[in-house]
Amino acid sequence: MNTGKAFSEDRDLSPEQRKAEREFLEIEIERAAGGAKGSKTVLDYGCGEARFFDVWTRLGYLYVGADIVPAMMDTNAERYGATFLHVEDLDERIVTDWLFLSMTLQHMTDVEAIGVLTRIRSQKVLVIDNTVKGGPEYVQHRRAVQLTELLARAGWGDITPETARSKAAQYKIVVGRNRGD
Ligand SMILES: C[S@@+](CC[C@H](N)C(=O)[O-])C[C@H]1O[C@@H](n2cnc3c(N)ncnc32)[C@H](O)[C@@H]1O
Repeated sequence: MNTGKAFSEDRDLSPEQRKAEREFLEIEIERAAGGAKGSKTVLDYGCGEARFFDVWTRLGYLYVGADIVPAMMDTNAERYGATFLHVEDLDERIVTDWLFLSMTLQHMTDVEAIGVLTRIRSQKVLVIDNTVKGGPEYVQHRRAVQLTELLARAGWGDITPETARSKAAQYKIVVGRNRGD
């Protein structure tokens, strides 16, 4: 479920803590995605303010962002000089190497999440979700095993669930591959 608004679950963190969280996640993304030689495009679904744009481009990826908040896509496009689309304008025939969902699935019901994970046929998928103590009720914090099940139900294979704990939150980092790979 979503309200069409941008969410930020780390809003209670200080600027220093936010920076530390971002750096922690950057390392996790590089670790999960960096080893894939020859993979060069990424779709960041539910990109928000595209805080990981730099990480992917530094790794050599062509980055496309998408979200349900159109105004944010315009701001991002101006700021980064890259393609940012409203999710409804996504051409689902475009297949990227990676589908990246960071703190996005937790705003969706299982049915919505499976819909997205089925429709967007990338070669690989990287999902990062977190658990913040005392976070808002509308956020569904799934366990790694539940995320794995969602990906499997959407047809992804070779799924590797992991958890990683920063100072502020516990993250689930799940990678899957397109079965046709
Ligand atoms: C917590 S923010 C995460 C933003 C970004 N991925 C990050 O890690 O900084 C969740 C984002 O998911 C977007 N979102 C929520 N429901 C969505 C949906 N059904 N389709 C696409 N984006 C959605 C929100 O607009 C928001 O930008």
